[in-house]
Amino acid sequence: MNVKLSILFVLLCGFFHLNEAQTTDCSNTCMLRARCSPYYKDLVWAIVDRVCRVFQNGCIFGNENCMRVNQCLPPMVATSKEECMQEPYCPRWCSRGGPPVCAWFPYTHSNGTTGGRDMAFGSRCGLDMYACRNAQAYVNEPRIGRCD
Ligand SMILES: *[C@@H]1O[C@H](CO)[C@@H](O)[C@H](O)[C@H]1NC(C)=O
Repeated sequence: MNVKLSILFVLLCGFFHLNEAQTTDCSNTCMLRARCSPYYKDLVWAIVDRVCRVFQNGCIFGNENCMRVNQCLPPMVATSKEECMQEPYCPRWCSRGGPPVCAWFPYTHSNGTTGGRDMAFGSRCGLDMYACRNAQAYVNEPRIGRCD
């Protein structure tokens, strides 16, 4: 092998090695998926990608973190409501635009009956703003588009 060829070889090996590192498979890192009640309300607050997110309870928060880890994303860290409610994490208004979303909010009446309702928002920002301003958690990923 001449020198040029062996340099090319070393470079190619380095390239494939880097490529491998970028496509790391995290899919089985977390196997702890629990069954969570969406009605049990014990809110967990977390700032995720500079957005204040509200989770209905620690079980749901834990499952979300499990899914994040399996996508090679860093786990979310719970924070206080006061910290989360600050600008710009929980904004007072959202600019127009973005696809409309439909989110499911669970509730428990004082007589113990549980249920949930779909609520429509003009954007994901509007949904997260409603959730943090009103301390109401939606459960599951919101659906893109209008509510049926
Ligand atoms: C519980 O309260 C809700 C809302 O006030 C009412 O619609 C529902 O009929 C009640 N259910 C029972 C079983 O009392």
